[in-house]
Parts: sequence; structure tokens; C-alpha cells
Amino acid sequence: MASFSTLNLSPSPKPTHSLLKPLIPAPEIDTRTQIQTPYPKLILTGPSQLSGHVSISGSKNSALPILAATLCCSGTSRIQNVPDLFDTRTMASVLVSLGAKVEVLDNEMLVNTDGVGSVEPNADEIQKIRGGFFVIGPLVARFGEAVVALPGGCNIGVRPVDLHIRGLQSLGAVVELRDGKVQAYAANGRGLVGGSFQLDYPSVGATETLMMAACMADGTTVLSNVAREPEVVDLARFLTNCGACVDGAGSNKLVIKGKSQLRGCECVVAPDRIEAGTFMLAAAITRSCISISPVIPCQMSSLIHKLSAAGCKIKKCSHDTLEVSAVSGRGGDNLLSVVVKTGPYPGFPTDLQPQIMALLTTCNGLSSVEESVFDKRMSHVSELLKLGAKIQENSMIVLTHVCYHVSVLNGSSLVANDIRGGMSLVLAGLAAEGTTEISGVAHIDRGYENLDMKLRFLGADVKRLMPLAS
Ligand code: UD1
Repeated sequence: MASFSTLNLSPSPKPTHSLLKPLIPAPEIDTRTQIQTPYPKLILTGPSQLSGHVSISGSKNSALPILAATLCCSGTSRIQNVPDLFDTRTMASVLVSLGAKVEVLDNEMLVNTDGVGSVEPNADEIQKIRGGFFVIGPLVARFGEAVVALPGGCNIGVRPVDLHIRGLQSLGAVVELRDGKVQAYAANGRGLVGGSFQLDYPSVGATETLMMAACMADGTTVLSNVAREPEVVDLARFLTNCGACVDGAGSNKLVIKGKSQLRGCECVVAPDRIEAGTFMLAAAITRSCISISPVIPCQMSSLIHKLSAAGCKIKKCSHDTLEVSAVSGRGGDNLLSVVVKTGPYPGFPTDLQPQIMALLTTCNGLSSVEESVFDKRMSHVSELLKLGAKIQENSMIVLTHVCYHVSVLNGSSLVANDIRGGMSLVLAGLAAEGTTEISGVAHIDRGYENLDMKLRFLGADVKRLMPLAS
């Protein structure tokens, strides 16, 4: 394996064709209107009819903890199918700020942590994304200490890290909060020790932090009421390939036997189930038929169940390809209302709640959407209302929204405030009559690789306005 001395964060040339990524058209930038826009904007002209096939990128939420976990390993880790996104590049910067060597090659990252000489990652980078905080587990486990700023990420409600901290304490860490930074060190001066910890809530991030820490703790750790999300299973797969001993990933209990050393390995990040679900919802809201791959169908069960109940036809074309059809037959519109409540996996993903809400505003009847994971994940509602969506907030049950059927959404100027809420506006813009202009595009770009190119490839009328370079 070659040695890596620099982080190449400049955009790398894309392969022209690969099995995972069929050729997609180059981005279309409207240079005539550049001067009018201080920030990038997406301009959608609808209603769109989609057709064809879309390739799903690697999972952002799998890639981030796996990149953090490379800090547990000596030697080089080769992580393939990493989506080229702001968040993954920020995580690479976090690793570099610790002294790791990272090379970015297309959708591959090569990480060598042998030169790590700091336990305090750059605070500015940590504060850009939620996933940056996950380095606290590997750092304290391998190097005995970590000083990590409180994390950033989407503003979708209170996002504490108390479970990460209490879990680390149960593994023998002393944890203090100083100047907005969490300082953790092994109380015995040597390293973490195995222990037992029950999470109050199956937090994905806390499960991942503690799994990484326990892999290098002395002795056996039992973690209960852990998250069962596929991204947790992906992380366990990576750690196991590196020599860790993790039992129970995918269930609500993990038993981990600590090892004094893990070695870097190769790993292919699984397809992004949230991106896949978003495109399935794009087919539904535009009453179109598209196919998507690669996708792991069993991870999509809760969405498939809701889409089927609404009247969509979902066909499994191969082990990793789904076809979604919402084409209306004779007699007009076909999709019906459904009731959605988000929850930890295998429940309905909170990361698809805004997108399915956009769909439900176009379905016949009264739908309800209840958000039970985050307390402020509703910033898209006020924007959807501007398109003419009929959504009513039930003040008695604060997190319940009721969507009524609307026959036509009409284009408008909208602002994206977070990744998935922003994406729900894109979906609504695809279905709306006329032009929808979306600013705050940087939020959306954090979660969707080559979004406008993929949509255009499916036949959508999407343009990206870029500000004039100064
Ligand atoms: C991850 C995902 C995010 C997804 C979320 C839930 C990443 C980078 N992000 O976020 O896209 O929406 O899972 O599927 O993987 N909580 C606490 N204390 C803690 C930690 C969490 O109370 O220490 C609470 C949160 O406030 C929230 C709930 O637990 O209400 C779920 O959060 P969590 O599962 O931790 O989400 P993240 O890991 O931040």
C-alpha cells in the first residue's frame, strides 16, 4: 500500500463509467443569471415526469463513523464507495487535523493513522457536522485521551451527547466539559476497561461511539438498548474486518470483547438507504416509474410498506434493484393517504419524514405525520405551505401534522434549512406547476451526491444557479 502525505480535498475527476455509477450528464449551470444570485439556488420547473434508472451513492451515515473508526486501526484503511459530500470531506479534515494521512481518490478514501500525534481535532471542523464528534470514542480508546468540541449538524432539535458521555464513563473514562469541549481520559491512566451500559434511547451516534471505544477496551463490554440501524451494522462489519470482536450488531444488545490492537482493512460502504428512499418518493410524488440500484431491499421495508399502502407498486427486479411505479391508471389520481410515525430502525426513518410529508400533500384523503425522534424537524412545513400544500399542525399533539389532499402545488421561492427538509422541497418542486426556486442548497448538498445531475438524468427540469465568482 502506498504511503499518503497530503489530503487532497480538491474535487477529483469522476470516473466516466463504472458498475455503480452510470454516465450522467455534466452539471447544467445557467450562466446568464449568475449575477442575480448571491448564493447557489436550484430552479425546478414542473410538473416533472421521471423515467429510467438512478444509481444510489454510498451511505453518508455509514461512511462517517467508519472514517472515525479508522482511528482505532494501525496501518492503512481503504474505504470505498464514500459519497463525495461536504460531510465526508469534513470528516477527512478532522482526521488530518489529528495527524492522519488521508488521500481522496474519486469515491475512495485511504486513511493512515500511524502519524496521529494529537487527541484534539480541529474544533471548527467538528462543529460543521454531527458525525465529527464520533472520533471521541476511538481517540480515548486508542490514545487514552480526547478533547473534542461539541458537535454541529442539522438544526432539527436538541441534539445532546449525554449518552456518549455516560457510556464512556461506564468504560472507565473521566469526562469533563470545558470551554465548549468535551475532555475524556482513562481514569486509570492506561486505557478504557470493559463495562456494561444501557442506553436510555437507542441513539445511533452513541451506539457507534461506544462500539468503537469498547473494541479497544480491556475486557468485555455489554451495551444494551442500542440502535439497530443498518449503519451500526456497517460499522460493526468494518471493525470486525479490522480484527475487533463485535457480537449482536443489528439486535438491541452488543457484546464486544476488547482487543489491544486493530489493523486497517478494506471496506466498501453500503448504499445509502435514505438517498434510495428519497428517489422512491420522487417517483411517487411525480406519479412516475423509475428503477433504483444498488439498494438493500430489506432495509427499505418501512417505506415500501407505506408506499404500497398509498397505492404505489414496488417491484424487486433483482437482489439490489427496485422499481417504483406510481403511474396513475385511467380515472385520474391514484395515491391515497397514510399515517406515518417516525421511530428507531426498523421503524419509519426520521430522515425520510420531510420527504414523505411532501408526497402526502398530494395524496387523496387525510394523512398524518408524527415525528418522534427529533423535536424540531418540521422547518419544511412552512415552506411546503408556500406551494399551496394543505398542512395543519395539531397543537394538542405538537409533533403531529395533518396533510390534506391538494390537487395542485404551485411553484414558489423556498428556503432549505436542513438536509432532509430541503430535499422535501425539491420533491415538492418536482411535482409543482411552474417554477420553484430553492435557496439554502448547501444543506441539501450535504446529503445528496450529484443530486441535480441524477434528477436531470431521470428527466426532471432542474437547473443550478451559481453566484458570479468575485
Ligand atoms: C444519526 C444520523 C441522522 C439520523 C439520526 C436518527 C448520522 C451522522 N446522523 O444522528 O441522520 O437522523 O441518527 O436516525 O449518523 N439523543 C440524546 N442523547 C444523546 C444522543 C442522542 O438524547 O447522547 C437523542 C437525540 O436528541 C434524538 C435521538 O436521541 O432525539 C436520536 O438521536 P441519534 O440517534 O443519536 O441521532 P444522531 O446519531 O445524532
